[in-house]
Amino acid sequence: MRYIGNKTRLLPFILDAIDTLGISPAVAHDAFAGTASVGRSLKARGWRVASSDLMTYSYVFQRAYVVAGRIPAFRKLRAGDATLRRALRSPTLRSRAEERGGTALHAIAEFLEAWLEPDCGFMSSEFSPAAGGRRMFFTEDNAARIDAIRRKLFEWRRDGLIDEDSYFLLLAALIEGADRVANTAGVYAAYMKQWQPNARRQLEISPEMPISGTPKSSAHLADAVAVARDIGRIELLYVDPPYNARQYSGYYHVPEIIARGWFEQRPTPQGVAGLVGIGRQKSAWCSRNTVALALDELLAASGARHVLVSYNSEGLLPGDELTAILASASVNGEVRTFGQEYKRYRADSDRDGRRYSGDRVKEMLHYARLR
Ligand SMILES: C[S@@+](CC[C@H](N)C(=O)[O-])C[C@H]1O[C@@H](n2cnc3c(N)ncnc32)[C@H](O)[C@@H]1O
Repeated sequence: MRYIGNKTRLLPFILDAIDTLGISPAVAHDAFAGTASVGRSLKARGWRVASSDLMTYSYVFQRAYVVAGRIPAFRKLRAGDATLRRALRSPTLRSRAEERGGTALHAIAEFLEAWLEPDCGFMSSEFSPAAGGRRMFFTEDNAARIDAIRRKLFEWRRDGLIDEDSYFLLLAALIEGADRVANTAGVYAAYMKQWQPNARRQLEISPEMPISGTPKSSAHLADAVAVARDIGRIELLYVDPPYNARQYSGYYHVPEIIARGWFEQRPTPQGVAGLVGIGRQKSAWCSRNTVALALDELLAASGARHVLVSYNSEGLLPGDELTAILASASVNGEVRTFGQEYKRYRADSDRDGRRYSGDRVKEMLHYARLR
């Protein structure tokens, strides 16, 4: 998913640093999981991962990419849903599923994507121009597809027809698919006034195959400090917090709504962008006044032997203050820093008054030995 701070492209840099430091796979806490990219690649390297984030869509990604461990067979679902059972007999569906990869997960994805009737519901009326709506986050057709798939996933889970791994694998695929056709410049704080080429494409559902064969990992929809306290002694704490004042809850409210669903509790989107109340999802790391204390607290709460902190050169917390906090938490007062320049993720363009310009930014990785 297009996500501010997504570390997918920086993974080689982070994994190299872990190797250089000689830290071997054991238990890691990916405390600010976001898209779960780091937890997922640690898991693939044999780590047991506990991940956490305040956002529900992140919890969905953590469940799909870090916790799920086997390709589901969907036996109960096939037995319990007659429409699906009929569709699965179709040679067209079977050959499309084969082209996608041939597993039961691919067949279900094909069913959701191409066989389910689009159905005008909450997403259509609130986030597309259907029924006279103003918000242009999705075309009417794609919003109705999201509506139909989200409802189906809710019903399958409510009726006990799919297990939790399957539910989260498919829900993660829906959130990622919706993001690819969202009519935005990358974040959901605003929609584009004209339909962008990506938004005109039809929604696709492409679930990722779970990583198997590693020890059981865990996902947490919770504050990093609370989770650090709960999981106790571990090998590695990976810290990748927000760098600036932008609250993720205000930039990604649409994926958040898709993740939560609207069947048990209907949200009330407000204003031009359709924001929903953020309350408990407000982060202390997004304020200059609270960020230093937040880092202090996290280091005190964690039982990790090693800590790695990703932070970029334009973050709210100045580099010297960050390293001073790490040094005072470390066993030997030492902090080691790795740096890498990379191309900035841009959701907007340069303009007068912004705090930065240009396309290059330096990502720093700070290391300290905690005990
Ligand atoms: C820079 S992003 C992490 C990106 C992630 N490493 C990735 O590759 O996608 C920061 C994340 O921290 C989360 N966050 C903010 N405050 C938090 C807190 N107090 N506890 C846990 N997560 C928090 C945000 O929701 C956001 O997903």
